[in-house]
Amino acid sequence: MELKLSKRARSIEPSATLAVAALARELKASGRPVLSFSAGEPDFASPKCATDAAIAAMEREETHYTATSGIPELKRAIAAYYKNRFGLDYAPAEILASGGAKQVLYELMQVLVDPGDEVLLPSPAWVSYVEQIQIAQGKAVTVDTASTDFIPCREGLERALSPKTVGIIINSPNNPTGAVYGQNTLEMLADVARKNDLWIIYDEIYERLVYDRSRHSNILQTAPDIRDRVIAINGVSKAYSMTGWRIGYALGPKEVIAKVDDIQSHLASNPSSIAQWASVGAIEGGEPYVEKNRSEFERRRDILFDMLSGTGLLAKRPSGAFYAFLDLRGTRVPDDMEFCRRILEEKYVALVPGAAFFAPGFARMSYACSENDIKEGASRIKDFIKSL
Ligand SMILES: Cc1ncc(COP(=O)(O)O)c(C=O)c1O
Repeated sequence: MELKLSKRARSIEPSATLAVAALARELKASGRPVLSFSAGEPDFASPKCATDAAIAAMEREETHYTATSGIPELKRAIAAYYKNRFGLDYAPAEILASGGAKQVLYELMQVLVDPGDEVLLPSPAWVSYVEQIQIAQGKAVTVDTASTDFIPCREGLERALSPKTVGIIINSPNNPTGAVYGQNTLEMLADVARKNDLWIIYDEIYERLVYDRSRHSNILQTAPDIRDRVIAINGVSKAYSMTGWRIGYALGPKEVIAKVDDIQSHLASNPSSIAQWASVGAIEGGEPYVEKNRSEFERRRDILFDMLSGTGLLAKRPSGAFYAFLDLRGTRVPDDMEFCRRILEEKYVALVPGAAFFAPGFARMSYACSENDIKEGASRIKDFIKSL
């Protein structure tokens, strides 16, 4: 008998990167010197202030259920952080902690998207947004930004609007392009939302990782009047190298947060109590750690870009996150899946094909790895391009 799966389950696309990732694993297992640049996580250890806080919490036996939306101490730490960093005031009822930003984004789609609703998504974009919208039976309408230096423009967004559009997801600094949206772009996005009655999910999970003279702003610093339509997403994964602890959070209107809380109460209850305490430790004590790692990422980015200059692969120098988005369109292998398969087989370099981000013709290379790997990887990439 064949088990009947739901239409929902059947509609979920497996990740476009799986084939390349599986090949990378296979090659590695057979002893090939594979260098992987596919990681979406920092390679540093979590800060000591976080692990100390977790150990202390375990010793105090903080090992029981907590409030679904998080312990008051974590909400206080997040509120103080948003006040200090962005000058924004959030009450505890406007904050919810979750098992990673990914989980709270999923819950938000369930709260904000009805079947048939459309959500605008500047692309290249992180694939989970699209799948999460689809699971809520909505439709992601991607708006390509490749021709405008990966920065969305008003015309593109307005062309994509329809009477079914309910919201827009903004991710800056951006995964996978590294673009950081400036004041004018944020003002334009706020204006489009205001005029068309859209909510905004503002995913700023990479906000601590910006380089050169770029500055990250929360969209409410630019447009305080749209506070009732913005839900900010953040977490400890990227800034504090705490991907495995699984703590992300949302800040937004209390009516929305209350509904997310209801869904989370049935889905998962609270995020891990120990991880919540670790996050309090990180947010309250991690500033020196964050700055040290940020400047290390900037240094690695510069090494990578210096080494790859002249290859024709470099689009704009990314000013945030920890990814270089390589433009393959001028190479002899402009098909990104093919390029990634070949460079893996021939030079043992694992990249993520742009197709995974709705950006065929590109590939994402993470520089969240050691300087030696970056140097060796860049030199293999150069050899590969020469060999074509
Ligand atoms: C743009 C973006 N948002 C959210 C997340 C989710 O982060 P986490 O679930 O680890 O908090 C990621 C992780 O890769 C991401 O790249």
